[in-house]
Amino acid sequence: MRGKLVVGNWKMNGGLRQNDALLGDLRAGWTAPPGRQLAVCVPYPYLWQAQAALSGSAIAWGAQSVSEHAVGAFTGEVSAAMVAEFGCRYAIVGHSERRALFGEADAAVAAKAVAALAAGVTPIVCVGETLGEREAGATETVVLRQLDAVIAAVGQQLAALVVAYEPVWAIGTGRTASPEQAQDVHRLLRTRLSAADKGAADVLLLYGGSVKAANAKSLFGCPDIDGGLIGGASLKADEFLAIAGA
Ligand code: PGA
Repeated sequence: MRGKLVVGNWKMNGGLRQNDALLGDLRAGWTAPPGRQLAVCVPYPYLWQAQAALSGSAIAWGAQSVSEHAVGAFTGEVSAAMVAEFGCRYAIVGHSERRALFGEADAAVAAKAVAALAAGVTPIVCVGETLGEREAGATETVVLRQLDAVIAAVGQQLAALVVAYEPVWAIGTGRTASPEQAQDVHRLLRTRLSAADKGAADVLLLYGGSVKAANAKSLFGCPDIDGGLIGGASLKADEFLAIAGA
């Protein structure tokens, strides 16, 4: 049976003092029920702090992106091997903000997933359509195009991925996909993954986009939704823990 995974995406938020409080509250409050995993993806400079605060706890940590390159003249980039040195279990790749604001195309996202896997870091591959794409009836085409690029690149390692479906129109907008809308896309993604590799049928599929304690239970109760990728609500310990317990 697949477990549940809830991952916080802090985005470009935080500071040494507030991180200490948040990480401390999470560590104190997380009871690690069987089959449930919790993780936070923090800005690069705070990876050491997450490592120090969470080592020996049941909470994992990760980065919000990694370079597609292993090493070299890539000013401002951070490699997967570097984040692995700080104990990262996860790296988000292909978040819609990276795609939209920093020009990350499908091929680059796929290369980042490969780079993460090569460093022993689990990529959390994000896919999702914009509002315009949904309204044009292109949701399936878009998310499968995004997923297929990764499937083609990672080959045999497909089962090692986590995939997050995050409709762009639901991120930070307070507008959540209904459980039915989310489940439909999750089923599509799972069907595609298991068609590519039987072993990938149990890849954890997270939903992201305005998840709160109040809507987490109905979303996570869907058959193909294995947890969530949580932005704004992951910055408040009580709310984040309530989501993870939903
Ligand atoms: P949100 O962000 O929960 O603030 O909508 C989710 C995400 O971008 O991963």
